[in-house]
Amino acid sequence: AVTRTFSIIKPDATRRNLTGAVTKMLEEAGLRVVASKRIQMSREQAEGFYAVHKERPFFNDLVDFMVSGPVVVQVLEGEDAVKRNRDVMGATNPENADAGTIRKEYAESIEANSVHGSDSEENAATEIAYFFDEDEIVG
Ligand code: CMP
Repeated sequence: AVTRTFSIIKPDATRRNLTGAVTKMLEEAGLRVVASKRIQMSREQAEGFYAVHKERPFFNDLVDFMVSGPVVVQVLEGEDAVKRNRDVMGATNPENADAGTIRKEYAESIEANSVHGSDSEENAATEIAYFFDEDEIVG
């Protein structure tokens, strides 16, 4: 089925002017950008977005990193969008990412790993609603 997922192009990628390069890989993987905006996340926004990781040892560094520069938040649409996006992103740690994936190509480290993508349909809906009003999404 055609579904939606949520994506973030992270500060390490925007800093290196890779917004287009990353988006091209998403599009070539069969995903369509149906909403997109470049934002400076506030600390409160980043903490809320990653609340599920609050107790993890890397949480504070993760929040610092996500507010260190602009990000591009996107809604992606396509056949089985969550899985399709996870496949093209590659493993969280770029050392484990397969050839041809965004993280293999561009990620600098497990933290500065260039992209975020929702890990389930349910989280996709929550994450999309966290950043977008329905009228900002144009399929
Ligand atoms: P993301 O998909 O955005 O979700 C949580 C993020 O935490 C993850 O990608 C990584 O970039 C970041 N992170 C930093 N350190 C770790 C770690 N040790 N294990 C998992 N994720 C980490």
